[in-house]
Amino acid sequence: MALKDSQKKKRGGVSTLQDGLGRLGASLLLLAGQMLLQTVRALLGRFLPARARDLTADCVLITGGGRGIGRALAREFARRGARKIVLWGRTEKCLREAAQEIRAMGTEGHYFICDVANREEVYRQAKAVREKVGDVTILVNNAAVVHGKTLLDSDDHALLKSQHINTLGQFWTTKAFLPRMLELQRGHIVCLNSVLALSAIPGAVDYCTSKSSSFAFMESLTLGLLDCPGVNATTVLPFHTNTEMFQGIRIRFPNLFPPLKPEMVARRTVEAVQRNQAFLLLPWTMHILIFLKSFFPQTALDEIHRFAGSYQCMNTFKGRT
Ligand SMILES: NC(=O)c1ccc[n+]([C@@H]2O[C@H](COP(=O)([O-])OP(=O)(O)OC[C@H]3O[C@@H](n4cnc5c(N)ncnc54)[C@H](OP(=O)(O)O)[C@@H]3O)[C@@H](O)[C@H]2O)c1
Repeated sequence: MALKDSQKKKRGGVSTLQDGLGRLGASLLLLAGQMLLQTVRALLGRFLPARARDLTADCVLITGGGRGIGRALAREFARRGARKIVLWGRTEKCLREAAQEIRAMGTEGHYFICDVANREEVYRQAKAVREKVGDVTILVNNAAVVHGKTLLDSDDHALLKSQHINTLGQFWTTKAFLPRMLELQRGHIVCLNSVLALSAIPGAVDYCTSKSSSFAFMESLTLGLLDCPGVNATTVLPFHTNTEMFQGIRIRFPNLFPPLKPEMVARRTVEAVQRNQAFLLLPWTMHILIFLKSFFPQTALDEIHRFAGSYQCMNTFKGRT
C-alpha cells in the first residue's frame, strides 16, 4: 500500500537528519585526527626541528632596532646570514651605531628615522625603504613604550601614545609591507609582544592593554595568513627582559624570576622565524601561569600575584617613553 504523503515526508526528514548527523560525526572525527596529527608534528618538531629558513635572500626591517631587544635582534639576524637589515626608530644616534655594528658583521645595514605612531611617516618611509633598499621580506614589529602608571595616575596623552605606538603602529607597518610580501609569496611578520598581554599587572595599564590588543591583532593576522602561501607570522611573548624598558623595576624574588637576556630573546625569536613557529612564550615556564589562569578562580590567582609581588612591582618603576 502506498505511503501517505505525511509519512513519506516524516521518513524523508528522519533520513536527512541521520545524514546530517553522519556528516557532522565524520567531520568531527576528521577534525580530531587533524588536531592529533598537528600536535604530534609540533611535538616532534621540538626534538627534530624542521629545516631552518635560509635568511640569505631576506631583507629584515626592525622597528625600534636601535637599542634593547631590537638591536639584539639585528645582530642575531646578521649573524644568521640575513642579506639586508633596516632599522627604524626615533633616535638617530643609536640607530646609526646599530647600523654600523651590522655592517661590521658583513651585512648590509640601513637606518631610517621613523615614528611608528605617525601613520603618514610610516607610509612615507616604507616607500623610501622600497626605493633605496628593496622589498622587505621580514618585518619585526618591536618598537614599544611603557608609562608604568595606573589608569587614574596616567595623563590622557600618555595613555593614547602607548596605544598609538604599541598597537596601531603595527597596523601601519604591516599595511605598508604585507601587500608586497603576498605578491612575492615570501614574507614573515614578527611581533615582539609580552607575557603581560596574557597576564596583566596593575601599574602599567597602558602597556598591558596595548600588548593585549596587539596579541589579538597577531592572532587574527596569523589565522588570516593560513591560505597565503609563503607568508607567515610569529608572535613572541617574553617575560621581563634586561633592557632599559623596565629598568629599575623591583620584583620580590629576583632569583626565582630572573630577567631574560635580550640576546636570548633575540636568538629564540629568530629561531622561531626560521622554523615558522606561530607563538613563543619565553621562558617556557610562563605556560604554567597561563594554564593556571584558565581554571583557577581569580581569588587563587590573586595569591600567586601576591606571592610573586607582581601586583605592586610597578611602584618601583618610572616608565620608558
Ligand atoms: N624589556 C622587557 O622586559 C620586555 C618584556 C617583554 C616584551 N618586551 C617587548 O620587547 C620589545 C622591545 O623592548 P625593549 O625591552 O628592547 O625596550 P627598549 O630598550 O625601551 O627599546 C624600545 C625600542 O622601541 C623604539 N621606539 C619606541 N617608540 C618608538 C616609536 N614611536 N617609533 C619607532 N620606534 C620607537 C625605541 O627607539 P627610540 O626611542 O629611538 O624611538 C627603542 O629602540 C617591546 O615591544 C617590548 O614591549 C620587552
